[in-house]
Amino acid sequence: MTEAPALSEPTLTFAIERRTDPLPDEQREAVLANPGFGKTFTDHMVLATWTPGDGWHDARVTAYGPLTLEPSAAVLHYAQEIFEGMKAYRHADGSVWTFRPEQNAARFVRSARRLALPALPTEAFVESLRVLVDVDQAWVPGTEHGEASLYLRPFMFASEAFLGVRPAAKVTYSVIASPAGPYFSGGLKPVSIWVSSEYVRAAPGGTGAAKCGGNYAASLAAQVEASEHQCDQVVFLDGLEHKWVEELGGMNLFFVRRDGSIVTPELTGTILEGITRDSIVELAKELGHDVTERRISIDEWREGVASGDIAEVFACGTAAVVTPVGRLAWDGGEVVMNGGEVGAVTERIRSTLLDIQYGRTEDTHGWMHRLV
Ligand code: PLP
Ligand code: COI
Repeated sequence: MTEAPALSEPTLTFAIERRTDPLPDEQREAVLANPGFGKTFTDHMVLATWTPGDGWHDARVTAYGPLTLEPSAAVLHYAQEIFEGMKAYRHADGSVWTFRPEQNAARFVRSARRLALPALPTEAFVESLRVLVDVDQAWVPGTEHGEASLYLRPFMFASEAFLGVRPAAKVTYSVIASPAGPYFSGGLKPVSIWVSSEYVRAAPGGTGAAKCGGNYAASLAAQVEASEHQCDQVVFLDGLEHKWVEELGGMNLFFVRRDGSIVTPELTGTILEGITRDSIVELAKELGHDVTERRISIDEWREGVASGDIAEVFACGTAAVVTPVGRLAWDGGEVVMNGGEVGAVTERIRSTLLDIQYGRTEDTHGWMHRLV
């Protein structure tokens, strides 16, 4: 990934329409004490519109609430939609920060290109986060709530009312925000993974590297299959050979070998270029691990665990941070990693990352961006 470019002045100005009926303090505090994931939304949201003639316009922070869409809106038929997932972290001095936002902005542009949606300039993307978090800053959990955060969900979709199959000539951008505790309700406990042999998530030339809603819709049947086998998540294999480990439905994967070296599937154009993944590659090297990005087969995973060569496996992403994988199951067998316990390397990488995100350690990489 590239160095963070210096941000210039935002090209888009967001009008602020503060609602007069925000959630009362007491009720908001009750939500922050036990937020879960993605269940409650803050008082406001960002909206902006794009048309070919006017470009991005009508940008504003306004009351969170239902959107009005025509039933013929293109997104409802052809899924021309993309999104991002980020977090705002409260530091001990009360300031609020986000993590590598220019990387999410760049990925949003790449996803937009793949889905034939208009690019939103990096400065406008980062400004949209700043204005929303500024207006709803009371919703960013304080340090008394532990490692909670405000999850930010920028998204863009085809809002033109038109049934022809072509890129929409009216597009809506929005950001919503939701206080977040742990992504998995069990807290930091190893998750179990089901190997999907029937379904694939992505194929060469497809949309696997884009963060578009359709990828997630296509992963749900596999997720149901995983649940039927008492597993929390699915691991997808490559679409050509059904052999190479790609990623989970919403997380990238890392393998820690007995000798301390670390392997993560290389970016082949069919997996999401995770920003957590990229950061962990860097942090793990700094912690002294030899890190390789290469193809790893499902057999290497199964046999590596059985022989003891693979000591720990973890998944990572913005929502899930670093989550240990305790069990891998497939039609006909299973293996258990590290006795089903959280491994020491997983724990160390997780805390190294969280210490940066929560401002408990010096940000030597310049990854943190202050919002408020
Ligand atoms: N892979 C998929 C399919 C995802 O949805 C996500 C989550 O955003 C990730 C990987 C991890 O990406 P990031 O670390 O940028 O959140
Ligand atoms: C994230 O980690 O932010 C994601 O988008 C994953 C999932 C919630 C879809």
